[in-house]
Amino acid sequence: MKRVFSGVKPTGHLTLGNYLGALRQWAEVDQHRADSLFCVVDLHALTVEHDPARVRRLSRQAATLLLAAGLDPQLCTVFVQSHVDEHARLSYLLECVATDGEMRRMIQYKEKSGRERERGGSVRLSLLTYPVLMAADILAYGADEVPVGDDQAQHVELTRDLAVRFNQRYGHTFVVPKATHPAVAARVMNLQEPTSKMGKSDAFGPGIVYLLDEPDVVRKKVMRAVTDSGLEVVYDRGERPGLANLLEILAACTGGEPEALAGAYGSYGALKKDTADAVVEVLRPVQARHRELCADPVHVEAVLRDGAAKARAMARPVVDSAYRAIGLLPPAPEPVADRVLNAVR
Ligand code: AMP
Ligand code: TRP
Repeated sequence: MKRVFSGVKPTGHLTLGNYLGALRQWAEVDQHRADSLFCVVDLHALTVEHDPARVRRLSRQAATLLLAAGLDPQLCTVFVQSHVDEHARLSYLLECVATDGEMRRMIQYKEKSGRERERGGSVRLSLLTYPVLMAADILAYGADEVPVGDDQAQHVELTRDLAVRFNQRYGHTFVVPKATHPAVAARVMNLQEPTSKMGKSDAFGPGIVYLLDEPDVVRKKVMRAVTDSGLEVVYDRGERPGLANLLEILAACTGGEPEALAGAYGSYGALKKDTADAVVEVLRPVQARHRELCADPVHVEAVLRDGAAKARAMARPVVDSAYRAIGLLPPAPEPVADRVLNAVR
């Protein structure tokens, strides 16, 4: 059976982009066809300025939303990255395989560090090394596939390069993974700024639909979406990005094709109304399950505890073999006498 790994960062409230680009695929497809792990990648949330209490809150919320989106702990493993030491352990080894030039070429690093410098802020070293930690997340589990939105394609490509390089230098250790993307809505754009991705912590707040937005808030945000000048409804990502985004969201929510849907609408107003309704309907069951799960935090904690135990057991042997392959001296096994003593203690 194929192994699948993916993750979401607790840097803000999860959005419609996270759902259509990633979570829905994980719940509806991946967990049923593969041995899957889904992770709240909290260490990644420390790469930008953060408030400790908020990261904790958002991590719990993200885990709850993964389950609300339909991830079933009977079918897949749901856990929090920092609960499994192997990620950080492997990340260091991969830092010894990656180059600084490679890191500086990452688009997300260039964009985020550029914005931070413009604001006069400083850039954390971990923002530069972030893709190496992401590679460690994936390689520690021998994942074959990584279902992500298309903003993560470059990071998965880097992960492949590091796996191949490590295997060539030190002997076959890692599975070389590949990214998979949803057919539509692999990049949901901000409703107010349709040339930028709908990101959790964007400046254009009114253009972001959050998974926990009330129906009337969702409707307002969609009805106020920026559309392009022009009268006809056509699907053209390059020339008419606002319209294309709405058509893709509608297609993703109703199972249609953006081009075909464009032909069915005579006005922007009707398209916006149907898109708003479709989004509200897609979010309704997720919000209902989220309310139920919030009433049972002990259940969510137990899922995360069991998930971390399963994940640790999978990652440990892979990371240990990487430690041996790269030339680190394995610790001597505990003497038999100590083992017996420890067992009776
Ligand atoms: P992040 O919010 O960056 O932790 O992303 C978690 C997952 O959601 C990744 O697979 C992303 O590629 C995906 N994702 C995030 N934003 C969007 C978006 N606007 N459209 C499509 N996928 C997205
Ligand atoms: N970098 C990803 C993002 O910003 C999150 C992530 C971290 C991830 N580790 C991962 C995604 C491993 C897939 C696999 O969306």
